[in-house]
Amino acid sequence: MATKVIIDTDPGVDDAMAILFACIHPEIDLVGLTSIFGNVTTDIATRNARVLLELAGSEAPVAAGAQKPLVQESKEVAWEVHGHDGFGTLPPIQPTSSPHAMSAAEFICDQVNKQPGEIVLCPVGPLTNIALALALDPSITKKVKSVTVMGGSLEEGGNVTSFAEANIWQDPEAADKVFAADWNVTMVGLDVTHQVKCTPEEFASLAEAAPKLGGFLNQISQFYFDFHVGANGFRGCYMHDPAAVISIIRPDFFGTEPKALTVVTDGERVGETIVSNDDNRPNVAVCLTVDEAAVRSLFLDTIKSGF
Ligand code: RIB
Ligand code: CA
Repeated sequence: MATKVIIDTDPGVDDAMAILFACIHPEIDLVGLTSIFGNVTTDIATRNARVLLELAGSEAPVAAGAQKPLVQESKEVAWEVHGHDGFGTLPPIQPTSSPHAMSAAEFICDQVNKQPGEIVLCPVGPLTNIALALALDPSITKKVKSVTVMGGSLEEGGNVTSFAEANIWQDPEAADKVFAADWNVTMVGLDVTHQVKCTPEEFASLAEAAPKLGGFLNQISQFYFDFHVGANGFRGCYMHDPAAVISIIRPDFFGTEPKALTVVTDGERVGETIVSNDDNRPNVAVCLTVDEAAVRSLFLDTIKSGF
């Protein structure tokens, strides 16, 4: 049976890769998307999430999320990585569907309560909505199947600062609440996502095999590839968000270690994920190794099997 997944997302080029993968892969039942700021504003993320689902022919709902972090001032969105409207140089696209009547946090709690033990939450943006859902209904810790977070870094260093990964840095207090809660959390951070890269040639092959969805990903990714030239010294991209979604259905591709985690919430190291010495913190399964070829192939083959 397919795994039921809610993706909390800030689309975003690699978010688009993850969402289209989830729409196509037969072992994922996409229950819905919830939107969050990060790569773009929440309003643009909500719009882009609806555009992606319409492109894929999915009728899954999109619930709009928080507009700002729990405690800190809003930070600048990552337009230089994903483009001003989140899809590289593509101008804004208007979806035909409307967002869900519930907020992201309400939608998460509602679905988890309706389907106890079945839903995997997969936040691939800042963790504000997940922390708000926890505050709204703390009992969801016992009712979700698991939580797979794309974010953080234990040994790899950061990508927005030397210490912090972008999703955690955008709302460190929210991330700390998610790591402090007693539920089954896996962290798919830069320790593994920096090992999973794709090339422009691989994306060109997606466009050839699956003109609509692969073609869309190829088109929006050109700007993302260009960003990686300046920032990371190669023309291609890291597969952050798709790696997180893939870890849900192929956990055997990843090696994890149990670590209690906390997040630095102020000072120079704000947003850094570090090991906690608080004995009351539950362990998080931190991904530290990955079969990068297997992740890459599964992503490429799945998109090519689409249309
Ligand atoms: O650090 C990588 C994460 O932040 C990904 O979720 C990506 O979409 C980005 O903005
Ligand atoms: Ca993201």
